[in-house]
Amino acid sequence: MSKYAFITGASSGIGKATAKALAKKGYDLVIASRSLKKLEAVKQDIEASEHVTVTPFVLDVTDTAGIHQTTSVVLEKFGAPDVLVNDAGLARGLEPYDQTNEEDILEMVDTNIKGLFLVTHAFLPAMVERNSGHIVNLGSTAGLYAYAGAAVYCASKAAVKTFSDGIRIDCMATDVKVTTIQPGMVETPFSEVRFHGDKERAANVYKDIEPLTPDDIADAIAYVVDTPRRVQISDVVLLANQQGTGFLACKNPKRNAK
Ligand SMILES: NC(=O)c1ccc[n+]([C@@H]2O[C@H](COP(=O)([O-])OP(=O)(O)OC[C@H]3O[C@@H](n4cnc5c(N)ncnc54)[C@H](OP(=O)(O)O)[C@@H]3O)[C@@H](O)[C@H]2O)c1
Repeated sequence: MSKYAFITGASSGIGKATAKALAKKGYDLVIASRSLKKLEAVKQDIEASEHVTVTPFVLDVTDTAGIHQTTSVVLEKFGAPDVLVNDAGLARGLEPYDQTNEEDILEMVDTNIKGLFLVTHAFLPAMVERNSGHIVNLGSTAGLYAYAGAAVYCASKAAVKTFSDGIRIDCMATDVKVTTIQPGMVETPFSEVRFHGDKERAANVYKDIEPLTPDDIADAIAYVVDTPRRVQISDVVLLANQQGTGFLACKNPKRNAK
């Protein structure tokens, strides 16, 4: 492998689009998620159009032993990643915290915080040792502006943002870079996962608004990992044009209608 990116959550949405965008930039890919079938489809799709190799790994980032096992095989086989994209993440439910069930709380914390921290912990020493590499963490505008019914999700994304800031400080004496990508509303299976498979409720989230696409976010990631050595982009916040802040969107933009 010449240069390669390790991407968690590459089976769907933003992670999948990022895999395609980085393949276009010539990165070989190691892609991970819980679904081998979906990862195989991503591999087939990318290898059919780009001259890169794509290696899928089944990995549940809530499984600490699984992280240790997968990352040690990856490090042994490919060395430290040039780019690590920590994309795997999810929201569950949109109820007030007193009505949020404990399973959903733990799944969000274990995936969005613990999983991201431990995948990073597994790869960072080899990146520091080699004195190069770029960690791209998927935060969210939810980590900047809390919204109703999402206290745990918002807190988990705030954790991603401050964790990224912390490791950037720890890596200041090295060439390792750290970026937090903080998207607003992006149309992906995210809302369907949030509503436990309720497609109608999920579709309603994006009704009367033009949301961002996964490619919009992937383009930003492809840009930040391609800057000169002296440049480090710490944060990228991307809102849909109709969004004012994180979850505040104008669903009926008549005021300026022509
Ligand atoms: N969509 C938005 O509006 C939005 C906005 C801001 C930030 N984000 C963030 O962007 C990231 C990607 O979300 P998306 O919108 O692209 O949603 P998505 O299409 O549902 O993708 C989520 C990805 O995470 C993976 N994943 C979930 N739990 C996992 C686990 N325990 N272990 C390994 N992989 C896991 C899923 O793969 P498998 O199911 O195959 O395991 C899938 O590939 C998330 O971190 C999300 O919080 C999304």
